[in-house]
Amino acid sequence: MNRGRLVLFEGLDRTGKTTQSNILLERLKPNATLIKFPERSTEIGAVIDRYLKDKTFELPDQAVHLLFSANRWEMAERIKQLLLQGTHVVLDRYVYSGVAYSAAKHTDRMDRTWCLQPDRGLPRPDLTIFLTSDDAENELRAGFGEERYEKSEFQQEVKRQFVEVFKALEDSSHEEKLVHVVNVTGKSVEEVAKVVWDLVEPVVTLPTDSTYSELLY
Ligand code: TYD
Ligand code: MG
Repeated sequence: MNRGRLVLFEGLDRTGKTTQSNILLERLKPNATLIKFPERSTEIGAVIDRYLKDKTFELPDQAVHLLFSANRWEMAERIKQLLLQGTHVVLDRYVYSGVAYSAAKHTDRMDRTWCLQPDRGLPRPDLTIFLTSDDAENELRAGFGEERYEKSEFQQEVKRQFVEVFKALEDSSHEEKLVHVVNVTGKSVEEVAKVVWDLVEPVVTLPTDSTYSELLY
């Protein structure tokens, strides 16, 4: 049987990742599942949820980084099983959010290499789509500012980190295309969905190896 494909949406807060993940899920159904990170329903996810909502809840940045990674490991077996049973898995955030948000905090000794290590061995996406937008627009979206990290200056830094992370990884690995960047500025939801589908369709149509790969950065 053909294994499922792992399709990842990355991007800044409120760039439409969740909307696009859901549209893609509908298109791929019944043969698809959506997993959103952080997955707040698990044991570790509950701590992350509290950390994001309660700005008086302090944890060292390193500990937070490891919690986000541990949250992915909590879900890793399930993702692998789904892929092997032929189900496509759409991810709303994953390891690159982990690196970009942590590295944006400018903490010494939390460089990219350090940040990537705990995710080493997780299932590797077959396709990564980075949704970006031109600046301040993000703030206008409903609910922005309620959670930790939802500040425009911080988002600018996260955006910079995403770009750097992808560039560094593309330079150092031999993957022809690690990430596809989609700028959503001025595009309707339907227009973005069309761009996304043009990227996803070949990936889900072409034959692939019978098993998933792992992240080995
Ligand atoms: P969430 O609000 O669920 O995503 P969105 O804003 O796209 O709906 O994500 C919560 C926050 O967690 C978001 O600001 C990004 C951040 N985050 C990390 O810092 N590290 C991680 O590994 C992940 C997955 C998310
Ligand atoms: Mg958010």
